[in-house]
Amino acid sequence: MTTILIKQAEMVTMNPKEDIVYGDLLIKDGLICAIGQDLSEEGVEKVIDATGRTVIPGFVQTHIHLCQTLFRGKGDDLELMDWLKKRIWPLEAAHDSESIYYSALLGIGELIESGTTTIVDMETVHHTDSAFAAIASSGIRAISGKVMMDKGEEVPLPLQEKTAQSIEKSIELLEEWHSFDGGRIRYAFSPRFVVSCTEELLREVGKLSAHYQVHVHTHASENRGEIEMVQQETGMRNIEYLDHVGLANERLILAHCIWLSENEKRIIKERGIHVSHCPGSNLKLASGIADIPGLLDQAIPVSLGADGAPCNNNLDMFNEMRLAALIQKPVHGPTAMDARTVFKMATINGARAIGMDQEIGSLEVGKKADLAILNLRHFHTYPSFDVDPISRIVYSATRADVETTMINGRVVMENRVMKTIDPAI
Ligand code: GUN
Ligand code: FE
Repeated sequence: MTTILIKQAEMVTMNPKEDIVYGDLLIKDGLICAIGQDLSEEGVEKVIDATGRTVIPGFVQTHIHLCQTLFRGKGDDLELMDWLKKRIWPLEAAHDSESIYYSALLGIGELIESGTTTIVDMETVHHTDSAFAAIASSGIRAISGKVMMDKGEEVPLPLQEKTAQSIEKSIELLEEWHSFDGGRIRYAFSPRFVVSCTEELLREVGKLSAHYQVHVHTHASENRGEIEMVQQETGMRNIEYLDHVGLANERLILAHCIWLSENEKRIIKERGIHVSHCPGSNLKLASGIADIPGLLDQAIPVSLGADGAPCNNNLDMFNEMRLAALIQKPVHGPTAMDARTVFKMATINGARAIGMDQEIGSLEVGKKADLAILNLRHFHTYPSFDVDPISRIVYSATRADVETTMINGRVVMENRVMKTIDPAI
């Protein structure tokens, strides 16, 4: 592996002891092995002059659907259940292995060019091996899984599956892909949401997640209609039911969690469940505004995700960070979700959600070199040292400001040219 020296950079480390550092960063064998002033170039194969640039930890998005990348613009202005039934499920049903491959590859391209280096992804019922193939060739760090949905008459026929088949196929994919490329790729069981899954399936997923020690990734408490359906079927609220079927533990990642009762918040906190907040999707699907300041006050771990491309038409984490901060201000005041809080959600909290906070999520010696180099010089300010780089990134930056992205010490985009994505696409 190449030894790389990034020189003369401003660094947002997210190391709580010293979160902004100026100097050099040395990468060897995929790991950050030194951060300091005037590091030696001896033995270095590649020097990146980062004068005037800002280096940040790569973003970790804890809720993505790569299989939905090409559905953008196909389901605008609908609420969740109509959007799924009229648009998303028929489109997922029409996918073949080739379209899934390109959908994943193009989605990953957008993520890498906007500084995201790790994703928790949910695929559709079929052809998940194609998505894993795209993940493998692109170099992105990913936890992914086939969606599981063994219930629902309104689901198009090609997406309907039997409980045993769903479990068998998931295990087959797990055995093929979990731990691929030294653990860059991992598997997560991905029951779609309570509405689409039988109790038998969810209970089995709980057992399998414990057996294989892998995450479970699902949607919960996103939309009031969805919550009503769960209540009618089970007599319980969403999170209470997930607890009842044995899924409430620290391996569970829940997308959305907008409408929570006090008891649901208690379960989430006590069991160490991770919440993935998707502000863009929550607005566009008219789902609601989650009380994230309230969850953070209770020390509930919250990270961020863009959700699928048609949920907010954008996979850019800069957009999610900015929305996460802005939507809380009118209700909770200007500091309830400040720039540092959302930047943490986008980096180290995401790493924590997937149990990798000792390996990624910040720029620290010994961690994997997953990072992005930004050029923010076109945001004109008075030349002064009291412009906080984190604030500048959260409130101003966009995907176009990312020059270079590295994952595992490998340059996957340099000066906005993709290095690992097939250039023919
Ligand atoms: N709930 C069940 N499936 C989905 C999905 O594909 N996207 C979103 N946002 N919510 C869901
Ligand atoms: Fe989703």
